[in-house]
Amino acid sequence: MKLLRSKPRHPPFVGFADFYFLGSLNLVMPQTAPWYQDAIIYQVHARTFYDSNGDGVGDFRGLAQKLDYLQDLGITAIWLMPFFPSPLRDDGYDIADYRSVHRNYGTLEDFKSFLDAAHQRGIRVIIEMVLNHTSDQHPWFQESRSSRDNPKRDWYVWSETDTRYRGVRIIFLDTELSNWAWDPVSKEYYWHRFFSHQPDLNYDNPAVREEMWNVMKFWLDMGVDGFRLDAVPYLVEREGTSCENLPETHAVLKELRAKLDQQFPGKMLLAEANQWPADLRPYFGNGDEFHMAFHFPLMPRMFMGLKLEDRKPITEILQQTPAIPDGCQWCLFLRNHDELTLEMVTDMERDYMYDEYARDKNMRLNLGIRRRLAPLLDNDRRRIELMNGMLMSLPGTPIIYYGDEIGMGDNVNLGDRNGVRTPMQWDGGWNGGFSAADPESLYSPLMLNPVYGFQAVNVHSQKRFEHSLLSWMKRIIKVRKSAPVFGSGSIEFLYPANHRVLAYIRQLGNETVLIVNNLSSAAQAVELDLKRYKGNILIEMFGRNIFPRIGDLPYLLTLGSYQFYWFRLRRI
Ligand code: GLC
Repeated sequence: MKLLRSKPRHPPFVGFADFYFLGSLNLVMPQTAPWYQDAIIYQVHARTFYDSNGDGVGDFRGLAQKLDYLQDLGITAIWLMPFFPSPLRDDGYDIADYRSVHRNYGTLEDFKSFLDAAHQRGIRVIIEMVLNHTSDQHPWFQESRSSRDNPKRDWYVWSETDTRYRGVRIIFLDTELSNWAWDPVSKEYYWHRFFSHQPDLNYDNPAVREEMWNVMKFWLDMGVDGFRLDAVPYLVEREGTSCENLPETHAVLKELRAKLDQQFPGKMLLAEANQWPADLRPYFGNGDEFHMAFHFPLMPRMFMGLKLEDRKPITEILQQTPAIPDGCQWCLFLRNHDELTLEMVTDMERDYMYDEYARDKNMRLNLGIRRRLAPLLDNDRRRIELMNGMLMSLPGTPIIYYGDEIGMGDNVNLGDRNGVRTPMQWDGGWNGGFSAADPESLYSPLMLNPVYGFQAVNVHSQKRFEHSLLSWMKRIIKVRKSAPVFGSGSIEFLYPANHRVLAYIRQLGNETVLIVNNLSSAAQAVELDLKRYKGNILIEMFGRNIFPRIGDLPYLLTLGSYQFYWFRLRRI
């Protein structure tokens, strides 16, 4: 705790310099939170970021060269999408070797150098671990299918009929008709929850559990800081169930966590479990399963609240979200590499989302919408800022999807989810500064249209302007990082009569922050009941200006279209 040096003489006119001193006024800081609780995560795929050798595909050497950019942006951790050898029929989520690097992205040495370079800058690295399934090209599956008495036969889930586990939902609805696929080699069916070229591993087999831990250990020994564990609800199958979130699956995950805690304390596990809050909660266990989990149900409701100009979808889902154990954390996101998933909404809500955000049917995929943030928000800077403002101030650790910090667009014509995975746009020159290759040999065409193309939207031009989206993103990240309350504080909603305004109080130790968001396209006035904080002044966190002291009357604020405020409360 820093000591108070002198008292400000004119509290209502506290100036810039005094603010720093106010910022440390009588703060009782709680114990330092674990790193992931205060992190700002940047999601990126090596192949999309920067191509260092001119072969048209991004690589680890390229990613390492762009670490300065990421450090300057202010992020503190990188989540890397799968970079292992793979036939790339699901962008690497179809792994053929868990202990190496796909040659397109470089070598294991390149990965290690990248990891060291990130660590030198204080940036942590979270890698992807696909536990549920492998590629059908993986040697384990090749062996398993080679004959029914092969020792690896039991590493996957085989059946003589395709009628077991009836009623289990199909996830990739647009491509798959069944969760069973016929193997002409060994003449049985194998189980797969995703594409049919991604056979599910059999977690009832202790050898599989052992080997997957050894794989994780391989990367932990190298120094990675954590894993995003892909598709975890589906590890174990049982007849007569949905084959999701089973106690046996939780037992497998707890076993991994126990090993992690024993051998690699301080490392982190993040769950990809696209489930309702009540089913998500068990993934934290009693603090003995995952450290973090994505809050899937919240994300579409932020888009819904914005379109409806009503806070209800957001407050409702957060009220339904059970508390999580100490040391655990939600991961919040607006967009990622997949379709904007609408699995965790009701049918009516899904229809609404499709009508409002994906009128063109080509934008829909499976149960979701394959678009990036800027196009979803009509490229409206105010809405992009508001959504990022909520992302950074609701309880959890925010994830920024690469390119969204500059407002990149998407290309629905590219098929599957490839339209949101186009090359990073660095400048207005050759291939947008992504690669020196011939444009025809890029792994994906760049965005070219006059609104979102690389000549209009790129890092180089946005770096030059203080008011670009990129500069604004840097600022909000900085402000967020200045207050641990965002990462670890409690949340309490205020319910002003004006339902177009979403207001909440975040609190940690002695620090209290008030956040007020106008979800509407029109200006709004709102009266907040802040009686409890009578006598406090409000300090707006971006401009560091003082707002009037809270008195006996409801606190009146006016907000412009899609405007939001973050205020620190101070009693001086
Ligand atoms: C996860 C990934 C997705 C992938 C799927 C199958 O949902 O996010 O991209 O296709 O798992 O591995």
